[in-house]
Amino acid sequence: MVKICCIGAGYVGGPTMAVIALKCPSIEVAVVDISVPRINAWNSDQLPIYEPGLEDVVKQCRGKNLFFSTDVEKHVSEADIIFVSVNTPTKTRGLGAGKAADLTYWESAARMIADVSKSNKIVVEKSTVPVKTAEAIEKILTHNSKGIHFQILSNPEFLAEGTAIQDLLKPDRVLIGGRETPGGRKAIQALKDVYAQWVPEDRIIATNLWSAELSKLAANAFLAQRISSVNAMSALCEATGADVSQVSHAVGKDSRIGPKFLNASVGFGGSCFQKDILNLIYICECNGLPEVANYWKQVIKVNDYQKNRFVNRVVSSMFNTVSGKKIAALGFAFKKDTGDTRETPAIDVCKGLLGDGARVSIYDPQVSEDQIQRDLSMNKFDWDHPLHLQPMSPTAVKQVSVVWDAYVATKDAHGICILTEWDEFKTLDYQRIYDNMRKPAFVFDGRNIVNVKKLREIGFIVYSIGKPLDPWLKDMPAMA
Ligand code: NAD
Ligand code: UGA
Repeated sequence: MVKICCIGAGYVGGPTMAVIALKCPSIEVAVVDISVPRINAWNSDQLPIYEPGLEDVVKQCRGKNLFFSTDVEKHVSEADIIFVSVNTPTKTRGLGAGKAADLTYWESAARMIADVSKSNKIVVEKSTVPVKTAEAIEKILTHNSKGIHFQILSNPEFLAEGTAIQDLLKPDRVLIGGRETPGGRKAIQALKDVYAQWVPEDRIIATNLWSAELSKLAANAFLAQRISSVNAMSALCEATGADVSQVSHAVGKDSRIGPKFLNASVGFGGSCFQKDILNLIYICECNGLPEVANYWKQVIKVNDYQKNRFVNRVVSSMFNTVSGKKIAALGFAFKKDTGDTRETPAIDVCKGLLGDGARVSIYDPQVSEDQIQRDLSMNKFDWDHPLHLQPMSPTAVKQVSVVWDAYVATKDAHGICILTEWDEFKTLDYQRIYDNMRKPAFVFDGRNIVNVKKLREIGFIVYSIGKPLDPWLKDMPAMA
């Protein structure tokens, strides 16, 4: 029986391995992690991450051919194929701080693999890593290998949160990069055989190692670039009276451009887009390509601009101050159908409003008060480390309250900011909400999900990203 071990039981390791176990009953899959609470949660009824369809897959396989364990060394030493899916955060100190990927966790995993291995292994990069990481990993493994042979493959993950299970069951492609040697080709074939159990062969792409590593960074950069492009257009739409949804629709009808990923928003979030683009920028700079680095920097700059622009709209619309005013934030996760808050634009928006003296009342159906308080008090990039290595019990931000109901969050509020596109926010009783708010009552829709006409009829002053402006907002500057 082939044995797979995955180091890192996070958003990628957990769902990916659960689907491999589901589709390959003859393979034994162990997911290991240094975080005891995380593994305990994977072994309980309350999984550590919220992802539609995940619980069902885990329940079908757990205890049969899918195991979650903290006994990292045992499972690594027994495995034929080892996936490494640990954190690769942005460095906060030293060379490349604020841009380069911190490979501390990767390196410690590689050293441990070298130490405990007693048989030949295929080591698979599942984490998103800088180009040429495989070379560094190879050096660590071969210098400590005691005659054992390791083959390194790059098999980046393309799943998106909220749709992870569907993405894994029906991937657009599976990318496997390896050495162009007989040993490398054999390893690629071994991993292909795993995916071929449910992925059509023509969707499994084999490349060299560096192409696979770079393709992952490139794909995320291209996706984020589309959002920054449409968000840049949204500012121009507001200035000219065009409607960004109509522009996106018209542009996306061109089959060369396509309709997906053209929704204007308060900005993109998530654990990877910014981190991976910063990583790409750093690689360009290290390779003497400042023009290329500057090109990609703009994607992040426009994203920051979009988040600031949103906060400035809120403040300038409300008589240039939100000091002492209650603002309701509907949604905190970085997108719907996930409880993940990593790099969510809600953090910047809430911090911006708090900076102007607002009291913020937050409701998100999947995010806990503890998580929100941590996010609002943590330093930039500190979130991307194993749980027990994150800063302990930060002081709570007093002007923030977290509630479990949109009606409580909006009661007596002066304004509402919609920060996540949860479906339930489309069908709220906005008349009831209006009746219980201070007047004039404002809605700032950062996700373009409300029916603007209906809300204006109720009496709200409505701002929607990239849409023709409410008469109230027309003469207010977009950026202070
Ligand atoms: P995560 O923080 O959810 O999970 C990483 C896990 O690795 C943590 O549970 C941590 O405790 C564990 N870990 C760290 N060092 C370890 C070690 N030495 N031994 C054992 N366990 C260790 O992160 P994630 O979202 O799953 O991302 C993992 C990687 O995958 C990152 O490189 C990320 O860029 C990439 N990625 C993420 C997504 C996504 O949607 N989240 C998608 C594609 C790629
Ligand atoms: C993204 C990619 O889509 C995945 O392919 C990739 O594997 C993953 O990053 C990763 O490497 O971590 P994810 O961040 O989970 O997945 O979610 P997306 O659906 O890409 O959304 C990212 C952000 O962009 C969200 O904040 C979302 O609200 C925003 N977005 C997305 C927009 O503002 N407009 C859009 O049109 C699409």
